Amino acid sequence: MSKTFYITTPIYYVNARPHIGHAYTTIACDTIARRQRMMGFDTYFLTGTDEHGQKIERAAQAAGKTPQQLTNEVSAEFRGLWDRMELTYDDFIRTTSDRHKLGVQALWCRIRDNGYIYKGHYTGQYCVFDELYVDAVGPGAPCPECGRTTETVREENYFFKLSAFQDKLLELYNAQTDFIRPETRRNEVMSFVRSGLRDLSVSRSTLSWGIPVPDDPKHVIYVWWDALANYITALGYGSEDTAKYNKYWPADVQMIGKEIVRFHCVYWPAFLMAAGLPLPHKIMAHGWLLFEENKMSKSRGNIVRTETILDGLGADALRYFLLREVVFGQDGSFSFDALVQRYNADLANGLGNLASRTLTMITRYFKGEVPYPSRAATRTTSDGAMVETAGRTIAEFNTLFDQCQFSRALEVAWNLVGAVDKYIVESQPWALGEKEDDESRSRLATILYTSAEALRIVTALAHPVIPEATAKIWGQLGLGDIRKFPLSALQWGQLKLGTKLGEVLPVFPRADKSTIESMQKMEEQGRRTTLAVEEEKEDKKVATAASPTATSATKPATTEPDGKISIEDFAKVELRVGQVKVAEKVKGADKLLRLEVDLGTEVRQVVAGIAEAYAPETLVGRKVVIVVNLVPRKLRGLESNGMIVAASPEGGKPVLASFLEDVPVGTRLK
Ligand code: MSP
Repeated sequence: MSKTFYITTPIYYVNARPHIGHAYTTIACDTIARRQRMMGFDTYFLTGTDEHGQKIERAAQAAGKTPQQLTNEVSAEFRGLWDRMELTYDDFIRTTSDRHKLGVQALWCRIRDNGYIYKGHYTGQYCVFDELYVDAVGPGAPCPECGRTTETVREENYFFKLSAFQDKLLELYNAQTDFIRPETRRNEVMSFVRSGLRDLSVSRSTLSWGIPVPDDPKHVIYVWWDALANYITALGYGSEDTAKYNKYWPADVQMIGKEIVRFHCVYWPAFLMAAGLPLPHKIMAHGWLLFEENKMSKSRGNIVRTETILDGLGADALRYFLLREVVFGQDGSFSFDALVQRYNADLANGLGNLASRTLTMITRYFKGEVPYPSRAATRTTSDGAMVETAGRTIAEFNTLFDQCQFSRALEVAWNLVGAVDKYIVESQPWALGEKEDDESRSRLATILYTSAEALRIVTALAHPVIPEATAKIWGQLGLGDIRKFPLSALQWGQLKLGTKLGEVLPVFPRADKSTIESMQKMEEQGRRTTLAVEEEKEDKKVATAASPTATSATKPATTEPDGKISIEDFAKVELRVGQVKVAEKVKGADKLLRLEVDLGTEVRQVVAGIAEAYAPETLVGRKVVIVVNLVPRKLRGLESNGMIVAASPEGGKPVLASFLEDVPVGTRLK
């Protein structure tokens, strides 16, 4: 029986449409899963959607839908996108499915019966964005995790005895040193746990969009408990058919983004320990994908849609870029320019060019059959050097890849591409191609065999990363289905004499400036149409600097333990007096006005959600307060470069901040 390998992505919230941040995690897992299959493992790859909780309930309300409608739609979008990209997940779990609900309740009963759940009262702050009970003091206090306003919750709740697991968790981190990867995350978690664990509230009674607590349906189970359990419910935990659970659990790698480390490295193993179930082998946290310096996220409005890149350059280009450009574990930036540059340099001019020149020459000079380097006398040291480089590449690539150092692994593989290119240029096969004598033919055969063999090796190694193009190159090499190739046996010399090549076609057409422009245009259009729901929600935030949620577009300020900020933090916000020059309604958006505001040194366009409170003509000439150093964002396709400050009475219309005395335009508020 072959060895099993189980890998999971986080399950994605359905309050946001999929973007390349989500694709990043899923692609990384898909790549690992593909490789493990080629290595002979019986591999199971799970992904899915996280569909309960307050966040989803509110997103549905804002979109005028029922939670189930919203979750059905967005979950299908995630799945549809993964299918379009031909990601090889084996199962897609939805937390609103019956099989999941059963499993979550079974886990609850087991932990309750083991004595780790009790009823108590919770009074404190809850961050809806993070779906997290936080140590923040007082109504409206900012969340220590994300800086957003928390809500006060007073409820009778069930609690999980997390405090009972502090020592056991520390023992786990010490005994299983690669339980949390990379090391920086392990250190963070260890110091969090060492600082003391309090029991965790694991039910909500003020929310109905969740899974009922067994025997007490007034309560629903805490959304993170519900979500984390997916990793076992998808395998049939709690059902009658536990064959998959028995076969694949515990997971080999659970991949997550760095912001959800605490849930996966503290709560999740504690739940499993409480249930007496085996723990996963490794939680691997990667960094964030940044766009224009900030984490790509719906709330920042700076996302890039995966579809744009699929339409522009295809899935392989995105996969290669993300794994080559971003050092896994660290944050990395995305830009269309960088994507196209990488694509051209490494794929079109690199691997694509190597494949087409090598295979075209074999077709031309050897009637499309792989020639064999027959005469030892015609071999040179450069041929031997290629063999050695290729062998070293296989070994180094394997080591780096298995440590999830994708970027370095690919660098090593592409060094081999560079080495073969150099070898071809120096050996000048085209000059030999015109000659008929035995020696020239034999030398030519050696050069082309060596090149094709090195090409085959890079293609096999790169297949999990760029599956589509490598499958084509493999076919052109006359080797059949690349997925069936036993990667663990890869070595020099497996390309057989006389192998008949397939039709040689280019795999990576070159991209140019127009590719970048067309992707940027698609992005514009895509944002305008598919994100309309989200913008609707964002519109509400725009007018209200008084509401702390409006600051969510910026990096959260560092907070002192009591929720106060330092004067330095306040000084980071640049507030200036501006004068409205132009004000007009935004087509198709009832709440938005487009303003042009004179700041003394420049005129800025600001889009503000104040249309219900102010007629545009009453604003022209009025002096207002503008936050001038906010990251620009798009609303209804219009760039808003600053935010107008207003008071936001609960349930009322926004009221613009203004002055009793006259103040010169451009004056800074401090
Ligand atoms: N639903 C929870 C996870 C529950 S798992 C039991 C959640 N969902 S999420 O939709 O917010 O997705 C989080 C995951 O998406 C991150 O952990 C990360 O894997 C991926 N990413 C979302 N945005 C990302 C970036 N900008 N960059 C990199 N990864 C990103 O949290």
